[in-house]
Amino acid sequence: MNSPVTTARANVNLALVKYWGKRDTALNLPAAGSISLTLDGLSVEARVGFDGGAADRVEIDGAPASDGEGARVRSFLEVVRAESGRREHAAVSTRSTVPRGVGLASSAAAFAALALAGSRAAGMELDPGALSALARRGSGSAARSIFGGFVEWHRGERADGRDSIARPVVGPGHWDLRVVAAVTSSVPKAVSSRDGMARAARSPLYPAWIAAVEADLAEARAAIIARDLETLGLVAEHSALTMHAVGLAARPPLLYWRGPTVECLHRVWELRAAGVPAFASIDAGPQVKVLCEPGDAERVAAALRDVPGVERVLVCAPGTGAEVVA
Ligand code: DP6
Repeated sequence: MNSPVTTARANVNLALVKYWGKRDTALNLPAAGSISLTLDGLSVEARVGFDGGAADRVEIDGAPASDGEGARVRSFLEVVRAESGRREHAAVSTRSTVPRGVGLASSAAAFAALALAGSRAAGMELDPGALSALARRGSGSAARSIFGGFVEWHRGERADGRDSIARPVVGPGHWDLRVVAAVTSSVPKAVSSRDGMARAARSPLYPAWIAAVEADLAEARAAIIARDLETLGLVAEHSALTMHAVGLAARPPLLYWRGPTVECLHRVWELRAAGVPAFASIDAGPQVKVLCEPGDAERVAAALRDVPGVERVLVCAPGTGAEVVA
């Protein structure tokens, strides 16, 4: 049986309380919860059709996927087949609106779009929670990109992961903030988040990091509800810096930062000292993302553009959740 080819789009998200550690690698279950903001304008569109070819075919931005990327998408298709009962191979193509070579490409947007397009193409109508659990199997952070705005991915308690899903923290349009992203290096990173997390789990600081996340989540949740940027920004900055501190203490050490990453951090702190509420976050790479009020975004962008080594600055508003586009 052939089912309709489906195309879905999802946006990237910025974790304000980071996911950095797993309790189950096979099911991709997190060691702790996390909270993010979905961002507008940085999205991936995925087209999936179970057309029954001789093998799964995966194309990314118009070219055949690399071995690593292809294998990851194929193992995700195995999950979709197992859940839907479909057996056919699929043709998959993804297209990203994230400017190429800026190091902001995200598996979160890709696997959220693939979960929605893949499940529909396989004939499944999943509710948002089940869709989030499916996206999680491709990439943990993708569980959050199913939803727009502020989103919490709950750790869950069950061994089968069914309760490890994301949910919106507040309704759409609750709080209009900006994320200003400074691209400090477009060189592909040497250590993926997946490998980085595995290394971080062997750091002597890892148990303290996991133990502290619950308090960060409670503080971030309350700050989002109260629209308290100072509290949210400080907890987000703290979460990011602690996550990177765990890696620094690992053997071998894990450091994603480049020189301009550190300079951007200092620039953000100077802005704060000058009265601009701006707060930094850094993911598994050298780029710096800064949370601020919409009215301060241009000033923050100008300050970051001025840092030697910054290649490009992007300003993002809150974005919507994953949607079917065709
Ligand atoms: C630093 O979701 O990419 O961005 O589940 O192994 O695919 P896998 O990892 P991934 O890790 C994201 C790590 C992070 C923090 C975050 O998004 O919460």
